[in-house]
Amino acid sequence: MHYLVNPAPLGGGAVAVPGDKSISHRALMLGAIGDGETVVRGFLQGEDCKATLAALRSMGVGIDLLDATTLRIHGVGMHGLAAPPADLDLQNSGTGMRLLAGLLCGQRFSSRLTGDASLMRRPMARVIEPLGRMGADIGSNGGLPPLTINGNRRLCGIRYSLPVASAQVKSAILLAALYAEGETSINEPAPTRDHTERMLKSLGVSLRAEGRRISMTGKQPVRSAPVDVPGDLSSAAFLIVAGLLAPQCELLVQGVGINPTRNGVIEILRCMGAKIEVENCEMMGFEPVADIRVRSSELRGIDVDPSLVSLAIDEFPLLFVAAAAAAGRTRFAGIGELRVKESDRISAMAEGLRCLGVSVEESDDGAEILGGTIAGGSVESHGDHRVAMSFAVAGTIAEGPLKILHADAVDTSFPDFVGCLRSVGADLTVEHSATAGKLP
Ligand code: S3P
Repeated sequence: MHYLVNPAPLGGGAVAVPGDKSISHRALMLGAIGDGETVVRGFLQGEDCKATLAALRSMGVGIDLLDATTLRIHGVGMHGLAAPPADLDLQNSGTGMRLLAGLLCGQRFSSRLTGDASLMRRPMARVIEPLGRMGADIGSNGGLPPLTINGNRRLCGIRYSLPVASAQVKSAILLAALYAEGETSINEPAPTRDHTERMLKSLGVSLRAEGRRISMTGKQPVRSAPVDVPGDLSSAAFLIVAGLLAPQCELLVQGVGINPTRNGVIEILRCMGAKIEVENCEMMGFEPVADIRVRSSELRGIDVDPSLVSLAIDEFPLLFVAAAAAAGRTRFAGIGELRVKESDRISAMAEGLRCLGVSVEESDDGAEILGGTIAGGSVESHGDHRVAMSFAVAGTIAEGPLKILHADAVDTSFPDFVGCLRSVGADLTVEHSATAGKLP
């Protein structure tokens, strides 16, 4: 399936985005081992979360779909998961695989985690190593999936400094720590999304977060409590940038999570001159939410502050598009992690932008983009949802029609992306072809 975007001035308006992917994953996993029923409202019905949901169901967790975005999870308690009858296929989801590795290494049964071609290329040593120090026994294909998790191991708490800033690794360790003797203490090199910590606390788990250190004693029970999932800022970001780049446009994205460990994209765009206002801020359970108003802005190139990288980690493909449309040069440094996401996002974006006439220089962990105009043409999304959506945004202001090849993966995180972008005036059509979904 491909997208065809014809440049068109966006009309603007108000729009809401689907639920947060990270929080939906955590709600599933913690709801599953909770001591009772958990109702999750605003759940993201994306392919990634559906893969995690199916994995938990296959381990005996009853999960009812009450409506399109509401779930009832029948928690089986800390020790109530059952051995899965087959491999657990996490499809495209790094979050699903890494967090489940943490949860499953404390179980009395063994399991095997697999995924699609992209997930099978993603580094897992980053979770195998600390979980192994805790006493877990995890086999892999030289640090890559599939992961074979041998159960019935006695886990002990560890003191661990994360070599890379990663909320997935931190969360895997915290989930394993629930099953470990003694205290686990994690030191982060830079702040990363703290949804796991917030949700654990809301479920009665006592946990200390002081600066970059998180400490938790093991063997604490997990209660069950309702979870309200805010709109995903990482999805809202596509509409935000589309609104900023469009001429004479005002756009309101409603009910978006603005957790301070996630909102780097707003700060970076504001440094580029973006007119973004955060309104009606309130707490939705344990997470802050707000409406985000954007107005057309003349963006300018900047040196992006590397200390904001971990707070905007998923938004860099889109920020590359903002940089391509900005006046002057934008330099990104310290973004090497992008090379091990769903695709090598630095090279996928550089390749696509160059096809559209934009000057991009790549380094191992950075990129420099000279902004100006974006030509029409055809780009490959490399099966990466965020690359596909970023180029769709570029298409709204390109000088000619822009075709984005193999955009199927968008459903992993933003199922109604096409509808949302169209609702604010984008001219985006979906093209089905005989080769839809297949990478060249
Ligand atoms: C996520 C953490 C980030 C992010 C991913 C979701 C999470 O990955 O890129 O989309 O839910 O914890 P890393 O923690 O590996 O950077």
